[in-house]
Amino acid sequence: LTAAATAVALTFTAQAAFASCEDGEIVIKFAHVTNTDRHPKGIAAALLESRVNEEMNGVACMEVFPNSTLYDDNKVLEAMLQGDVQLAAPSLSKFEAFTRRFRIFDLPFMFTNIEAVDAFQASDSGQAMLDSMQRRGLQGLAFWHNGMKQMSANVPLVAPTDANGLKFRVQSSDVLVAQMEAIGGSPQKMAFSEVYGALQQGVVDGQENTWSNIFGKKFFEVQDGITETNHGIIDYLVVTSTEWVDSLDPAVRDQFMTILHEVTEVRNAESYAVNQASRQSVLDAGGVIRELSPEQRQAWVDVMKPVWAQFAEDVGQENIDAAQAINA
Ligand code: LMR
Repeated sequence: LTAAATAVALTFTAQAAFASCEDGEIVIKFAHVTNTDRHPKGIAAALLESRVNEEMNGVACMEVFPNSTLYDDNKVLEAMLQGDVQLAAPSLSKFEAFTRRFRIFDLPFMFTNIEAVDAFQASDSGQAMLDSMQRRGLQGLAFWHNGMKQMSANVPLVAPTDANGLKFRVQSSDVLVAQMEAIGGSPQKMAFSEVYGALQQGVVDGQENTWSNIFGKKFFEVQDGITETNHGIIDYLVVTSTEWVDSLDPAVRDQFMTILHEVTEVRNAESYAVNQASRQSVLDAGGVIRELSPEQRQAWVDVMKPVWAQFAEDVGQENIDAAQAINA
């Protein structure tokens, strides 16, 4: 299929699916960018969709648009403010135009694992972040987990100096730009949907992502290998517009939020296992994974961690201290 034919087919599918919404049902479009199966976000979104459609039948009708088929993450928040889409779950790195408080999640080596991220988000300051963009028209509803990031490039990466002079794709976050500059790389912000092509064509040399994204979008096919750095995290905010959430009848909102919270709890508990399965799938598909000794990994810590100082004011030293206390 040509790109145009694919677009027509997808539009058709979307309309066909919506034709199945009954008259009077609240239509909830949920746009996201990852694959659907074997992915923490893809699985959670599908579960939310099926539960809403079953338990809220006659009241609400949800349709998930995965794989950037409706919007990529750099456009979805604007579309949400226009009322063209009701739900999204962009990574916390993609809210830079709305808040600087999420920058803490991008600081390299801030969290030792996803349980630490979970505990931080559950704290009062984490929960307050859900409401931090109300002034800008966005309401956070829940945090969804993906996992720890790994580094990859078209040359072997063992020491951080191996990254010198390489071009790296980053999400739209100045923290990630600073992190790649710290290792001597040249960062380029780019939408997720463009990464595979950019790696394949040599527009960029490398990237960082979780196992589920590296496997789900086949980045390992167009990289020399993946280095298991676990240097940062990708996590998501399930987000809507304040206008949409305020428009819901309180009983409808409560039912929807109950389902969302149950899906969040069940799927967040599985995110680590889903990523480890993707790691195994990369190996099974012939991908190369490089593990680092503690000394080798420490060299990445030493080069990347100084980035914290540049952003301490944005994220608040008290939040950095709280995150570090949770790690301990
Ligand atoms: C990325 O752009 O690399 C990720 O945010 C994609 C995603 O949603 O996991």
